[in-house]
Amino acid sequence: MSSSSEKALENKNRNSITIIFRYADGKDILLMCLGTIGAIGDGISTNCLLVYVSQLFNSLGYGKTRQNNHNFMEEIEKCSLYFVLLGLTVMVVAFMEGYCWSKTSERQVLKIRYKYLKAILRQEVGFFDSQEATTSEITNSISKDTSLIQEVLSEKVPIFLMHTTVFISGVVFSAYFSWRLAIVALPTIFLLIIPGLIYGKYLLYLSRKSFKEYSKANAIVEQALSSIKTIYSFTAEKSVVERYSLILDGTIKLGIKQGIAKGLAVGSTGLSFAIWALLAWYGSHLIMHNGETGGKIYAAGVSFVLGGLSLGMALPEVKYFTEASVAASRIFDRIDRVPEIDSEDTRGLVLGNIRGEVDFRNVKFTYPSRPDTVVLKDFNLKIEAGKTVALVGASGSGKSTVIALLQRFYDTNAGAICIDSVEIKSLQLNWLRGKMGLIGERGALLSGGQKQRIAIARAIIKNPVILLLDEATSALDSESETLVQNALDQAIIGRTTLVNLSSLTSNNKLGLRHID
Ligand SMILES: Nc1ncnc2c1ncn2[C@@H]1O[C@H](COP(=O)(O)OP(=O)(O)OP(=O)(O)O)[C@@H](O)[C@H]1O
Ligand SMILES: [Mg+2]
Repeated sequence: MSSSSEKALENKNRNSITIIFRYADGKDILLMCLGTIGAIGDGISTNCLLVYVSQLFNSLGYGKTRQNNHNFMEEIEKCSLYFVLLGLTVMVVAFMEGYCWSKTSERQVLKIRYKYLKAILRQEVGFFDSQEATTSEITNSISKDTSLIQEVLSEKVPIFLMHTTVFISGVVFSAYFSWRLAIVALPTIFLLIIPGLIYGKYLLYLSRKSFKEYSKANAIVEQALSSIKTIYSFTAEKSVVERYSLILDGTIKLGIKQGIAKGLAVGSTGLSFAIWALLAWYGSHLIMHNGETGGKIYAAGVSFVLGGLSLGMALPEVKYFTEASVAASRIFDRIDRVPEIDSEDTRGLVLGNIRGEVDFRNVKFTYPSRPDTVVLKDFNLKIEAGKTVALVGASGSGKSTVIALLQRFYDTNAGAICIDSVEIKSLQLNWLRGKMGLIGERGALLSGGQKQRIAIARAIIKNPVILLLDEATSALDSESETLVQNALDQAIIGRTTLVNLSSLTSNNKLGLRHID
């Protein structure tokens, strides 16, 4: 097979509904089988009822003319008993349908959510800088896409199976009751399904359009709230409200169109009565001339009309399957994404006896999201094991970038970063990060140094060989700074330490290094 056709096949598979079952295990397959049996049983039950209803109708119709009253009552009792048994069976199968699909949807979607979050946490830092993975897009996907899959598994699939069964069994049973009637009725099926289909398509079109309109309206509110001071200072409140209500006027028109479409679709079920007229007329003809019984003609008609209406209800569900498979492939693309810097990769080296010498050799680096801006160019820095070096430079000069590169949040574009003369790319990532303790400036604000000391304790508890301090004291007042500084003085003993400073007010003991 050529690679392009293989790819097309793969795409086809990805977009088919079956991909949403990707994480179904043995128990889920059992639940789905039982749920399917339940849905089929539920769908077939009305037609099973009709088998005896047709007999009952015949018995009732001929009742008075019968010679033997005893026989008549016996038949009625048989039918009644059958109805009770059928009722009990329907209770069981309908329970199976509801329970099994709900249960398996919970199980499968739980697995998808878990794998999704795990896969996201595995990605390299650069992935989160990119436009394709904004925080809101990720949280949306984990809540909305998975809810859609859950809804399809727990509701749409069983409803579809049930309606499809009503349709198929309706056609089969009506042919069994009276094949002549079934053949004559068959073309009328289009009258039953077409209004539903047109309505479904039109409604989808309208709801997409109104979704767009609402997004526009929301954007106005969002913009206004995010720049509320500007709105106040220009006294622009009125114009915001006017623009907002102008867009909402459009959605009202769409709402009215939706109402008309819905009314016509609901009204069109009246067509089934017209079909009844045909069936009654032709059915009477069959009773008169072809020896059919009234009960059978009645049952054939009911089976057929119910089947047609059910097909009309089953077909619009298909669009949810398409939506769910698109959502699933969006999620699975993320789950399958192997990050460029993979924290789950356990193949790398582990140094038995690490001293902690750090060496940046001719490092060049640009952030993947901003490839035009070179942050580090021919950057060299050697820190001997156990020594402390401070990087001093203005904001944006690249101090934090050096720390990020050492922790291998990003890979360099050129040059190498070595620990004990071994390139960090060849080291096992989790082991490498485990040997480093990072204390950042975050958490220092508003905390009087408390949080910062907790951050130091947390970093030290790992017993790191390399300590990274990214402006650990810069946001503190002088009193807290002394406290934190004392804690840091203890912490750096015996560790290779890299300190980032934006100014030279403290830490004169350290070996300094300017960065520009
Ligand atoms: N995730 C990122 N994606 C793209 N560019 C970035 C990213 N992080 C930092 N930069 C850019 O890289 C340059 C160096 O940033 P860096 O944060 O390393 O500087 P810094 O010296 O630590 O500054 P500060 O003192 O403000 O912390 C800056 O121009 C910054 O805008
Ligand atoms: Mg910084």
